[in-house]
Amino acid sequence: MKNKKILITGGAGFIGCHLVKLMVNKYSNYEIYNLDALTYAGNIENLKDVANKSNYHFIKGNIQDGAFLKKLFKEHQFDSVIHLAAESHVDRSILSPMDFIMTNIVGTVNLLEAAKENWTSFDEKLFYHVSTDEVYGSLGEEGLFTETTPYSPRSPYSASKASSDHLVMAYHHTYGLPIVMSNCSNNYGPYQFPEKLLPLFINNIKNNKPLPVYGDGNYTRDWLWVKDHAKAIDVVFHEGKLGETYNVGGHNEWKNIDFVNLLCETMDELLGREKGSSAKLITFVKDRPGHDLRYAIDATKIKNELNWEPSIQTKEGLKLTAQWYLENESWLENITSGAYLDYYKKQYS
Ligand code: NAD
Ligand code: DAU
Repeated sequence: MKNKKILITGGAGFIGCHLVKLMVNKYSNYEIYNLDALTYAGNIENLKDVANKSNYHFIKGNIQDGAFLKKLFKEHQFDSVIHLAAESHVDRSILSPMDFIMTNIVGTVNLLEAAKENWTSFDEKLFYHVSTDEVYGSLGEEGLFTETTPYSPRSPYSASKASSDHLVMAYHHTYGLPIVMSNCSNNYGPYQFPEKLLPLFINNIKNNKPLPVYGDGNYTRDWLWVKDHAKAIDVVFHEGKLGETYNVGGHNEWKNIDFVNLLCETMDELLGREKGSSAKLITFVKDRPGHDLRYAIDATKIKNELNWEPSIQTKEGLKLTAQWYLENESWLENITSGAYLDYYKKQYS
């Protein structure tokens, strides 16, 4: 295996931290540079297991700053980029779309420009863009998203990701930039910021607070264990064909209300509470504007061409997830209180 110098953006976030740990531990001959602005969603504590590894390097910086990125590329001469940094929460994009435009679109173009300018030859170079199934829009009761499904984003978040996907593809076709891309379904697992459905509900159940299910709860998502997504990124990074995109999903569709009920059962069991007590916290609230009805991924291409498949099923994954949040109360406490900034100062000042 060749030595590589890889820039991973957004490595202090939910998916990024699993990917960084996988790459640092699995490939001791790779130098992994984690570039992250440490927004509210980035948490350096997520990476404490690898912080002292000699092939791991943390850089605090913002992809909205194009001049900074060009300098960084010049200084480090990265040969690959795996780009995950993004504003990722749909509800926030409805309240504040401009942050999504600036990071997800402008930030991505800044990275593309820095790579294009720095890579005088494209041999052995790769720009890997990590994206979402939300770019395809909303499905009805039938059908699956394939790699050729036309884009039809419907929230500011998904529109910003769709725009970044198109720009990455445009740099490939126009300038020959060597790119790959993947579009993944809903991830779940440890280290997810507690604004997203699962960690929010786990925390609320623990504290006997209401579980705000949007609308009637009859919305469908395809759930994937986050470590399986990290493994898929590893496979696409090493074996994906240039200029191609790969859909990544769990073959694991759940209506929100059924998923929440399964979580409630799991939490009753883990907390030793009477069966049915967590479900009593379910409260139907005002719907998310433009709420996409159903997402479901056809992951045949990545299975057939790159031999990737999800490794665990929901019941097991949900239990592991709930257990992790219950056992890591201080992580939750720190990320919601800002105490992780003190940790950052101690480690890096
Ligand atoms: P996250 O919100 O947990 O983490 C995002 C990370 O990016 C944070 O560490 C944050 O500090 C960093 N960041 C944000 N703006 C930045 C900027 N301007 N400069 C540098 N760093 C910045 O997100 P996530 O859930 O881990 O998602 C990672 C990527 O995967 C995103 O591109 C997202 O669109 C995509 N994705 C997520 C899911 C999912 O279910 N979470 C599914 C498919 C695709
Ligand atoms: O599909 C991939 C996408 O999955 C990623 O691209 C996004 O970054 C990620 O945030 C996720 O988007 P969703 O909007 O699907 O995730 P969220 O956890 O916000 O919501 C999951 C479902 O649960 C969705 O149908 C909305 C619903 N929901 C969510 C919250 C936070 C509720 O009913 N109540 C809630 O409080």
